[in-house]
Amino acid sequence: MSCIAVIGTQWGDEGKAKMIDYYSTSADIIVRYQGGANAGHTVVTNEKKYIFHLIPSGILHKDKTCVISNGVVLDPEQLLAEIDMLAKDGVEVAGRLYVSDAAHLILPYHKALDAAMEEASSKKIGTTRRGIGPSYADKALRTGIRVGDLLDEAYLRERLDQALKIKNVHLEKVYGMKPIQPADVLGMLLGFRDRIRDMIINTQNFLYQSLRQNRSILLEGAQGDALDIDHGTYPYVTSSNTTIGGALTGTGLPPFAIKEVIGITKAYVTRVGEGPFPTEDLGEIGVMLREKGGEYGSTTGRPRRCGWFDCELLDFARRTNGLTSIALTKLDVLSGLEKIRVAVNYEIDGKKLDYCPTSHLGHITPVYEELDGWSEDISTCNHYDDLPSRAKEYIRFISNRLDLPVSIVSVGPDRKNTFAML
Ligand code: IMP
Repeated sequence: MSCIAVIGTQWGDEGKAKMIDYYSTSADIIVRYQGGANAGHTVVTNEKKYIFHLIPSGILHKDKTCVISNGVVLDPEQLLAEIDMLAKDGVEVAGRLYVSDAAHLILPYHKALDAAMEEASSKKIGTTRRGIGPSYADKALRTGIRVGDLLDEAYLRERLDQALKIKNVHLEKVYGMKPIQPADVLGMLLGFRDRIRDMIINTQNFLYQSLRQNRSILLEGAQGDALDIDHGTYPYVTSSNTTIGGALTGTGLPPFAIKEVIGITKAYVTRVGEGPFPTEDLGEIGVMLREKGGEYGSTTGRPRRCGWFDCELLDFARRTNGLTSIALTKLDVLSGLEKIRVAVNYEIDGKKLDYCPTSHLGHITPVYEELDGWSEDISTCNHYDDLPSRAKEYIRFISNRLDLPVSIVSVGPDRKNTFAML
């Protein structure tokens, strides 16, 4: 049985999609298991740049099967937009994209409430406004509507009527917004059902049977470790478990099926939205990283906050996910810096901490070590040996500090700018 999980180790946007695309070549099935269209997974092929919000990035490999499993919150309009975008480019998904009957739907009222709550709040989270929080809240409240409900129209009507009774009170009375008519949502949902009917399956069973048939599975995490609803920098987090537990509950796979957990790690750190960020650089380095690294949200276009590599944050990801290796991305962005800082410890009130606190991260001070930078452009390197010695030193430093092997290094957006280390 072979199953690999790929997880972001920072606050998202670590370059996961590119790595998933890389690992997809040796997988039979690629699974998105949590989050929703808040994610923006960018893959650059020879021909084109694709941004996927829901469909696993592995769909571009025409011999692969892709699954959106039960842990995902699914925006019907977004899914259809992605299917249509792929069809235009001759990428057919029929017969190789499956959607869990237990995945919850993101409906127009979830998006309206997400935006309204942000607008009304004096302490904003900075959500993507894609309806993620309200949809997961409905799941927990047991008032959500699932993909499988689409197959029973009478039941669907009943669920929708019930949900809208409450949602419209919120929309109208709390936020002064227009109520949403059940007929409008129902019409959209029935149209959606007609297009995806053949894709709806019990993905837990499908994945389990696939494992038994020795098919290899790649689990595609969205967002990053520090945005986890339980282990992240609450309340500045997303509403799902982005850590390894989410891969299990979000698929129903047995825990020991996962043989490798690869932490996708950017060579510096970024964060989009509000919340603590100990190594953020508010000066010219932060600006340089943003511009050179193209650090603008692929879902919202928002500028990302940028800063130095943080070993404590990474160590936290190592512990919470049981990382077996890391894939280091965007190393090329650091070229040209005379000195590169790396946070190696945290201090609070002058005392060293031996863990990464997620609730008072705003009060800690990072302790830095400074490494020599390199001036060479490394974006055309396609082997470890081609790297300048100081870039190699940077990789070694991170690997030694975390006591983790670096399995892959990426030095540019294209598929070919990637090389294996192990
Ligand atoms: P939500 O997931 O839209 O509710 O947003 C909650 C927080 O997670 C906000 O700070 C978002 O900017 C952040 N977030 C959500 N998805 C992503 C992502 O894919 N990459 C980076 N940050 C994200």
